[in-house]
Amino acid sequence: MTKIILDCDPGHDDMMAIMLASVSKDIEILGITTVAGNQTGDKTFENARRILTLIGREDIPLARGADKPLVRELMIAPQIHGKSGLDGAELPEPLSPYLDCHAVDFIIDTVKASKEKITLVPTGPLTNIGLALIKAPEIKANIKEIVLMGGAVYDSNMIPGSEFNIFVDPEAAREVFLCGLPVTMIGLDVTNKSLITFEQIEEMCSWGGRISSIVGPLMKFFAQANLNMFGIKGAPIHDALAVAAVINPDVVECEHLFVDVETKGELTRGQTVADVYKVTGKAPNCRVALKVDVDVFIGMMMESIRKLDE
Ligand code: BDR
Ligand code: CA
Repeated sequence: MTKIILDCDPGHDDMMAIMLASVSKDIEILGITTVAGNQTGDKTFENARRILTLIGREDIPLARGADKPLVRELMIAPQIHGKSGLDGAELPEPLSPYLDCHAVDFIIDTVKASKEKITLVPTGPLTNIGLALIKAPEIKANIKEIVLMGGAVYDSNMIPGSEFNIFVDPEAAREVFLCGLPVTMIGLDVTNKSLITFEQIEEMCSWGGRISSIVGPLMKFFAQANLNMFGIKGAPIHDALAVAAVINPDVVECEHLFVDVETKGELTRGQTVADVYKVTGKAPNCRVALKVDVDVFIGMMMESIRKLDE
């Protein structure tokens, strides 16, 4: 059983990540922490509460984190996730309880208190994780690995050459990539291929279950936004692939490379610069996912929604 903290900014695909983790027998969610990203800190936090209420998992500790990146102004993504951050369906009122502490302190305290090493799974800008590592670097001793959704070697979605989560807070991302812990980068090279197709979304809508009848329309909205923005034919459920890779590492194929993050570039803010040809002589610090078994992954995802419907 892998113990994880899921740090997220829900967000349609963050929601899918929470749902997949919540039904997995191989994962114990020690807590969910939220960060500003896809929408403001208020909204991503409220969305996390709505999601936990929807799936009846008010037992999962929830803590709200950073409202803005380490040094930059926040940039949000309403063009992809809508005004609420979860446009496309009506979620329940946010009734789930939450902790009276900052996400960064929750992460630090939980990692320190754990008897087993913890896996961090960040699926938003890396502000909370970066802050935790800066504030309490000793927690590294009790972190097994960081499996994050963000970045890319060849693909991009924010500006040419960079991905949203890393673009929003490149300074925090750099802290994480260079922190010395094993990092797995589940980036756009694989997540933009990890699509729930429009046909599969229709199928999900036809199940008529309590969860699928909300998730289906949310995926429709998300797929349509991705079609409009990028011409992608389906819903790329980026963040859920990071959780899937924790459950079943074989769902992706990785290369071990040195990766740094561009924080100063004029045209390349937030680029995850990967030493594909090993020209720097620097030791690899990151397992970079470059191939994905889409059928296995989407199978896991559909099954998790079916389970939640039961
Ligand atoms: C990432 O950006 C967000 O919009 C998604 O939730 C995902 O974490 C993809 O670039
Ligand atoms: Ca996200």
